[in-house]
Amino acid sequence: MALDPVTNPYTPGAGQRPALLSGRDQELQDFRARLQRLERGRAAQCTLIVGLRGVGKTVLLNTFGQEAVRRDWVVVEHELTARGDLLATLARVAHQALLELSPPSRWTRATRRAGAILRSMEISYEIAGLSVSLPTADVGDALPASGDPARDVTELLLALGSAAAEHQRGVTLMFDELQFAPIEPLGALVAGLHKVAQRDLPLTIVAAGLPQTRGVLAEAATYSERMFETRTVGALTEADAKRALAEPAADEGVAIADAALSEAVRFTEGYPFFLQVFGDHLWRLASGDRITEDDALRAGPMVREWLDRGFFTFRTDRLPTAQRRYLRAMAELGSHEQASGDIATALGLSSSAPVGQTRDALIRRGLIYSPRLGYAAFTVPQFDDYLRRHFELEAHVPRRRAADDSDG
Ligand SMILES: Nc1ncnc2c1ncn2[C@@H]1O[C@H](COP(=O)(O)OP(=O)(O)OP(=O)(O)O)[C@@H](O)[C@H]1O
Ligand SMILES: [Mg+2]
Repeated sequence: MALDPVTNPYTPGAGQRPALLSGRDQELQDFRARLQRLERGRAAQCTLIVGLRGVGKTVLLNTFGQEAVRRDWVVVEHELTARGDLLATLARVAHQALLELSPPSRWTRATRRAGAILRSMEISYEIAGLSVSLPTADVGDALPASGDPARDVTELLLALGSAAAEHQRGVTLMFDELQFAPIEPLGALVAGLHKVAQRDLPLTIVAAGLPQTRGVLAEAATYSERMFETRTVGALTEADAKRALAEPAADEGVAIADAALSEAVRFTEGYPFFLQVFGDHLWRLASGDRITEDDALRAGPMVREWLDRGFFTFRTDRLPTAQRRYLRAMAELGSHEQASGDIATALGLSSSAPVGQTRDALIRRGLIYSPRLGYAAFTVPQFDDYLRRHFELEAHVPRRRAADDSDG
């Protein structure tokens, strides 16, 4: 008899909380300690989670959010996009946090000041959809925003932090996909946080993003590295990966043979999203109340096909030929970071100059990033394997002959 699809404990998706959050205890413990410090009026760094696609950044971010809520913090979250306006976003999340701290009718000194700053930012930056309504007594004396984002954001964060302190609560602002943040407003945000940190106010930022986020932050402000406690999350260790599959099944009364777990870990290399997909297929294939090695061996090719169709193909589907060739050349060299010169050689070139734009376009798409100067690496695990299986290695064709070279 097949296993009950209703009790299938696996969660292959984006940001879906797994039945067991495996291997992230230390991260959670450290985050809790930072909240506790802030609650006691001590300084603590902000939190940054970085990692490849599908390693569980969003899930961890949400777990941190739940922990903060449990400790009675105000938590407001936002996912950035390539086209978003960070300044407007900041104003919106700050406004939301302020309203959660207290309704305008009961605003006191610091809350009023934060409200007034938001109102003036709404006007001077023409932020749509904010509609800050000030208590009647305050209308008219809204402080004019300076028009300098760094100054205005600093004032806003200081006022929000003071408002939180006044209400004896903490505020956590959470940003997912921080790699999309434009440099200038991000610099304003970091400058504001810098001032908040100097006053030990109970306001903190928790952010997640692809590995390039660190570079984006460093470009936004030289001291950002010190403002954030950065944790790189990645594949789970073998033991944690096995637990991620075995424990949720055991909770449903289903045992998984150790050989099946080993096969799943070998196949997925411990990447959380791949593990969930593998578990999901095991559940569908198994019969009785035991998942066997044979089930795992049969699951492999099905998982491969499912991932190829769902996870990888849409990343290469509409890619201009030059970009696809570049990725394919990278894949030829393996899964690790590669020197631009070596990629050029694989493309049949004697220098990387002709493919510089192609490389930049791929970075903008978020498919690769530069872990250090002159190197490129994939942001998607096992992407190299997919590319090698699906595309032939081809030489670079100069732009004047290629119809569809790198896009903008
Ligand atoms: N610690 C974990 N243990 C088991 N499964 C996990 C863990 N973390 C995440 N997952 C699972 O992995 C998948 C990916 O998680 P999530 O969406 O948080 O990744 P992500 O890093 O945010 O990916 P992306 O970069 O694409 O946004 C989900 O199916 C989730 O259930
Ligand atoms: Mg995510």
